[in-house]
Amino acid sequence: MYTEPLQKATLWLEKGLNDLFSQKYNPFYYHGALPNFFIWALFISGLLLFAYYQPTLATAYASVRYITFELPFGNLFRSIHRYASDGMMIFVMLHMFRVWFTDRYREYRIVPWVTGVVLLIITFTIGLTGYLLIWDQEAVTLANMTFNLVSKTPLIGSAVAEFLIAGKMITDYTLTRMMFLHLGIPLFMMFMLWLHYLRITRPVSEPPLALVVMLSGVLFLFSAAFPVSLQILNANDPLATPSLTSVSSVMNFDLLYAWPQYLAAQQVDPLLVVLLVLAVPVGLLILPYLQKKALRDQFATVVRENCTGCSLCYNDCPYEAIEMVDRGNDGTRFKRLAVVDPGRCANCGLCVGACAFKAIEIPRRETNNVLAEIEAALTTS
Ligand code: HEM
Ligand code: SF4
Ligand code: SF4
Repeated sequence: MYTEPLQKATLWLEKGLNDLFSQKYNPFYYHGALPNFFIWALFISGLLLFAYYQPTLATAYASVRYITFELPFGNLFRSIHRYASDGMMIFVMLHMFRVWFTDRYREYRIVPWVTGVVLLIITFTIGLTGYLLIWDQEAVTLANMTFNLVSKTPLIGSAVAEFLIAGKMITDYTLTRMMFLHLGIPLFMMFMLWLHYLRITRPVSEPPLALVVMLSGVLFLFSAAFPVSLQILNANDPLATPSLTSVSSVMNFDLLYAWPQYLAAQQVDPLLVVLLVLAVPVGLLILPYLQKKALRDQFATVVRENCTGCSLCYNDCPYEAIEMVDRGNDGTRFKRLAVVDPGRCANCGLCVGACAFKAIEIPRRETNNVLAEIEAALTTS
């Protein structure tokens, strides 16, 4: 299996981090929870920026300049927002690679994987629109490059570009559209996260307090030590606005969010860049189907006569693969029956352990067979 060496490397790294952080605080064990930490950091720091940001061509840059240089702690909040967005993307990617490398992304885990791909696109779009909102000369250049790249998308390019620009040319509405995407997509993200967790009974979605405190400290200190900058358009005129047609002489591409624009700046054919961008989600969606070896060959099955409808298996199943249904009038005094959805069953066997009535089995590992195997092992030892 092609992921085996990657899996080994991940586990090796995980072991190293255990020595460093202890098992309880190993960030690798909170790979899904850490993006949530950054969502909160982004939300809190973004609220303050939102209160002072003015999305019009005449005032956007001036408002960011005000936040950066005049508002007390304004630039600290801007820096926290920026670094949290980078942290978010880095940890989302770590999370994605980890579930991929450890083969926890296909078959009965397909729902979190597919919704995860959507979450990746969402994270990317929120980050990119954030960069455009700054509206200094660099941001305007980035905006023009972005709209130009989007318009090169086969078939739908010009329609999508027009939607992003909110018309045929940049106006006040363009910034309102960017702001709408930057604030509206996070709401959609909440819905996607709900879908993401839907088939995980007890998702580890919050890191432990000690890790939150440590990460908050690192984010705070890093932001204070390396505050983000803003291009000065005219030192004497705080109301200066960037030219909509000029190209910035300095471009600092954040490769987590603006790698397509970076490639375009390196003279890579725009169509090729667009195809590369589209290939990422398409490739990720195909990935689970490239692995031939099945993860499971058996599923839990319920022995109807033994099932009392007690729900213990239902409560313990980590993949929401068991449903308790009305058993109808089948001559028993019990009202409910456990039913397993094979598409969701991970073959983990937890339900077999939970059932006190030998009413749920994994055929290959029937309880009696397992007991017989144990007894045989005990007598021969
Ligand atoms: C906003 C970004 C994301 C957040 C906040 C998030 C959060 C989480 C959380 C909390 C879990 C449960 C982890 C556990 O219980 O151990 C999880 C599971 C999972 N996530 Fe994400 N996720 C995000 C993005 C992604 C992406 C981009 C992918 C892949 C494309 C992905 C794929 C998965 C998969 C396959 C699982 C199931 C893993 C398992 O069952 O062990 N997620 N996610
Ligand atoms: S634990 Fe056993 S008896 Fe109880 S509902 Fe599940 S299968 Fe039925
Ligand atoms: S083996 Fe049982 S507990 Fe495990 S996923 Fe299947 S139904 Fe759920």
